[in-house]
Amino acid sequence: MKKRSPMQVLIDEHGHIRSMLSCFKVHIDRFERAEDPDYEILGGSIAYCHDYLDRWHHPHEDALLHLLRRRAPSEASACAELEDQHLGLAHTTKALVNIFAAVERDAPFLRGDLGEQGRTLLHDYDQHLDWEEAHFFPAVTDNLLPEDWQEIAPRFADAVDPLAQSPIDGRYQALFTAIGAAQTSLR
Ligand SMILES: [Fe+2]
Ligand SMILES: [Fe+2]
Repeated sequence: MKKRSPMQVLIDEHGHIRSMLSCFKVHIDRFERAEDPDYEILGGSIAYCHDYLDRWHHPHEDALLHLLRRRAPSEASACAELEDQHLGLAHTTKALVNIFAAVERDAPFLRGDLGEQGRTLLHDYDQHLDWEEAHFFPAVTDNLLPEDWQEIAPRFADAVDPLAQSPIDGRYQALFTAIGAAQTSLR
C-alpha cells in the first residue's frame, strides 16, 4: 500500500473522528432519553478520544505547529490557539472518562453529567475540526517545505488509528461496526 503523507493521515483521521462523533451522538441521545444506548459504542468513542486522539492525533498536529513556528512564524502565530484547543479537549475528555466509569459502576447521580459532558465534547470537537480544516491545515500545507515533511514523517509512522481498519483492540469493535453500518446505509 502506498505510504500516505502526514497531511493525508490527518485528513483521514478527521473522517474517522466525524464518523465516531455521529455514532457517539446517536447513543448520547438515546442515553438522555433513557432508550437503551450501546455502552460499548459510548465507551469506545470515549476511549478513542482519550487513548488515540489525545495521545497521537493532536500531538502530531502540535508537532506540525512547532515546525510552522520555525518556517513561517506569523502564520504560526495566527494558529497559536491550536495547543489551547487541544488542552481543552483533553480536559473535557478526561472528565468524560471519569463520569462514564462512574455511570458504568451505577452512580445514578452522574447520569445527567454524562449527557451534559458528552454534548460538550460533541460541540467542542465539531468546532475544533472545522477550525483546523479552515485555518491550521491550509497554513501548514501552504508553508511547510519538503524537508519539513521529511523531518516529521517518522513521527507519523508509529501511530495506528484503531478506526482505520478492523480493530485489534476489542474496545473499538462495536464502534467500528456501527460506523461501517452507518456508512453502508448512506450508500
Ligand atoms: Fe486537533
Ligand atoms: Fe485534527
